[in-house]
Parts: sequence; C-alpha cells; structure tokens
Amino acid sequence: MSSITPISPRGFARVGAHSHIKGLGLDEDLKAKLAADGMVGQTEAREAAGIIVNMIKAGKMAGRAVLLAGPPGTGKTAIAIAIARELGRDVPFITLTGSEIYSSELKKTEVLMQAVRKAIGVRLHETRKVYEGELTQFEVRTAKHAYNPYQQVPESARITLTTKSESRSFNVGSSIVAAMLNQGIRIGDVVQIDAETGKVIRAGRSEEVAEKYEIAGYDEKPVPRPSGPVEKEKEFIYVVTLHDLDQIQSQSRGGFFSLLFGGGEVREIDPEIRRRVDEYVKQRVEDGTAEIIPGVFFLDDVSMLDIEAFSFLSTVLESELAPIVIFATNRGITTVRGTDLQAPHGMPLDLLDRLLIINTRLYTEEEIMEILKIRAREEDVNIMDDALNHLTKIGVETSLRYAVQLLSPAAEKAKSEKRNTVTKDDIEVVRKLFSDVKRSVEYVKQYEEYMLR
Ligand SMILES: Nc1ncnc2c1ncn2[C@@H]1O[C@H](COP(=O)(O)OP(=O)(O)OP(=O)(O)O)[C@@H](O)[C@H]1O
Ligand SMILES: [Mg+2]
Repeated sequence: MSSITPISPRGFARVGAHSHIKGLGLDEDLKAKLAADGMVGQTEAREAAGIIVNMIKAGKMAGRAVLLAGPPGTGKTAIAIAIARELGRDVPFITLTGSEIYSSELKKTEVLMQAVRKAIGVRLHETRKVYEGELTQFEVRTAKHAYNPYQQVPESARITLTTKSESRSFNVGSSIVAAMLNQGIRIGDVVQIDAETGKVIRAGRSEEVAEKYEIAGYDEKPVPRPSGPVEKEKEFIYVVTLHDLDQIQSQSRGGFFSLLFGGGEVREIDPEIRRRVDEYVKQRVEDGTAEIIPGVFFLDDVSMLDIEAFSFLSTVLESELAPIVIFATNRGITTVRGTDLQAPHGMPLDLLDRLLIINTRLYTEEEIMEILKIRAREEDVNIMDDALNHLTKIGVETSLRYAVQLLSPAAEKAKSEKRNTVTKDDIEVVRKLFSDVKRSVEYVKQYEEYMLR
C-alpha cells in the first residue's frame, strides 16, 4: 500500500429536486431563520438537525443514529441534504435508498457494507520528496515517432526550477515531459515534481511573471515563487474513504484479470482485505499520520429494508469504525420486512431504541408557496401570480412534491406556445396530464379487475 492516489471522497450528491438547498439556514445560536439557504419553515426539525451537525463536527456522534420521520413531501430528504452541505467537503456523505440494497450483483449486506465504508473518511498525511520551483527554463527535445517518421514526439527536456533562494536544472524523461505538456505547463508556472514517481503537479502561475507581463487576476490567482531549496520534503494530505482503501488493496492483488481489465469497480470485497485495511489505518492513526473522519450514511425510505439489513446495521453501529447513520421514513406503524411483526416505522425495536428521532410536520399554505417560488427561480421558470396560487392549492391538496414536479412540464407547455411565463391554464393542463399518486391509485383500482385478467 505504498502508492496512494488521491480520490475524491464525494460519491455522488443527488441534485435536481434538491438543488436549491444550500444549508440548514440557521444563525450562530442555531435558531432557524424563517427562510434561508433555500430552506423554508420546518424550523424545529432544522434546529434539531443543526444540533446534530455540531455533534458530528465535534466527533460526538459516531456510531449513533438519527431518524427523520414525517409525512411524504415534508422535506426529510431535503434536511438530510442540508446536513451534508453544512458538514463541508471533507466529511463523506453517502446516500442510499432502501430499495437500492436489492441489487442483482451484490448481496444486501455487501451493498450496505460498501456504503458504510464509503461514509468513513481517512485523512492521510504523506511526506514526500519533491522538486519544487518556478519553471524558468523548459527546452523540449523531440525525436521521430517510432512508427511514424513524419511525426515528432517529445523525448526529453531540460528544465530549470527556481525558488527565492536557488535555481537547479534537470534533465527529465519523456513521461514527465508529456505530463507537463498535457497540463499546458509553460515557463513562469510553479510546479512540483514527485521525486519518486515523477508525478507533476501545477500549483499555478508565479506572481513574478504574472505581475510583470500579465494582467493581474485575468484568469487565475497567481501563487508566490516558492522559498527554500528546490529539493524538499513536503507534506501532502489526502482524504480517502475506507472503501477507496479497500479497493486499492484488492486491486493490487486482483491477479491477471484485473490487470487485463484494469480493475474497474471491485465487486464483492473479501473481509480479509477489510480487516487489513482497518489495521493499516489504525496503525497510521497511532503513528500520528492519519485521522479518521466519521461521515454520514443517509438511508432514505428505510421501511424498504428487511430484518437482515437491520440487524447488520445494528452491528455496524456498535463496531469501532462506524459512521453516523441517518434514516428517513414516511411510514407509521408497518410490517418489518422479512417478518410478520408490526413495528413503528417498520424498524425493529432494538434499533428504534437507540435513535434520536426528528419529526417533520406538514407545511402551511404560505410555506408551500414560498418553496414553490424558490423552485421556480431555481428552474428558471417565470410564473404568473394566479398560476402560483393555483399550484399552491394543488400542493396543499395533494403533496408539495407533486406541485414541485408540475413546474417544469408547465414551463415546457408555455414554451411550446412561444410564451415565457407560466399561466394558470398551463398548470391546469399539466395537472390533468400528469396524475398525482392518489389519483393514480384510484384510477388503477377502478380498473384493477380488467388489468388482472
Ligand atoms: N423546508 C423546505 N424548504 C425548501 N424546500 C423544501 C423544504 N421541504 C421540502 N422541500 C422541497 O420540496 C420537495 C419535497 O421534499 P422532500 O423530497 O425532501 O420530502 P420527503 O419528506 O423526503 O418526502 P418522501 O417521504 O416522499 O421521501 C423537494 O424538492 C424538497 O427539496
Ligand atoms: Mg424523501
């Protein structure tokens, strides 16, 4: 495990329906502002979420779990996303929907285990020998291409790196030259070259040249010419997740096939590999060269999980390396899958016992209107006042989610008639074209007999 490449810990963030959510919208003393960061109303739940964020940041939440419970469309997923935004970039945040654990390729517990390990970050400190300086000479020598004599390819180069105190020249080979040319590195850039691997990193444009010859602030912020010697030990910090480390570890032993197919996404990971990764990380933590960053594992629509998945999660919460788990559900009393027991939120009682529960409540008409306004702005939709009023009524009668979803088809309708503002008629047309869940269920019920035949 000597070479570790930086991998972004961000898996994927679900945007789209929640793209307007920028945070929880709280002030310093954790009081919710009525509307801020794209959030409207739902103040108690947001304030509770704010406390959770602080506990996570203080490292007091690892191994604990939170449940967001409330009716459909009351912002449970939105609040979870807001928590992720508040935590910042380095804290991993992984989202999984209950039904996603039933994949055809992986066992349920493997899907969960991978998600759990993606939700635990490790900050690794690596000291490496590098050559660093402003590039003051860059002479590329070219040679004829081995197979195509008409083409010239870079073969080597003579470069000079300059710091505030010295200048040193080097001959570099074709792979370093190629890496430099690919990144568009030119004289006047500050670069770092890893002494062992030859990896080239461009730090930016040197202030020296930027001030003399270029318009300041033209496209990027210049960086100072480095001080000290050209050859130095430098500390690099990478944030990876336990899952990244599992993958690196299992690829290095993947044998012939992984060589042939370039590894790719590893399917099932051997528990032995995980055990070794854990040991490696613990060792580095003891040596003071790594820190663990417990992240968040958000499990939406938790009533889709079955008893096996729940007992797996209970074990995870008790283990030494555990993320913070946030569940969400819109179910009240329902059957725990895989059993015939009824339980609150369809979760086994032993798990329920250790949860902090946050309830979301139904929105008032004004709040729905406010959220629809924000969504209209987010989706670049102009909407007439009476159309907005009508859409708000629809939101009250059916669900906020449905009303939000009608916005873009309504805008499409307006566009098809060469108008750029949505009218009440547009809303009415798309309301008829697209059914809400209740109407759809009633309709299908009516014809169930026919459909079943
Ligand atoms: N308080 C709020 N402020 C701003 N936007 C919100 C708020 N609550 C919900 N929304 C937005 O309304 C839509 C519906 O909310 P969301 O999907 O979060 O509901 P949910 O409680 O997760 O519903 P379900 O139980 O069906 O999963 C989303 O687009 C969401 O971003
Ligand atoms: Mg949801």
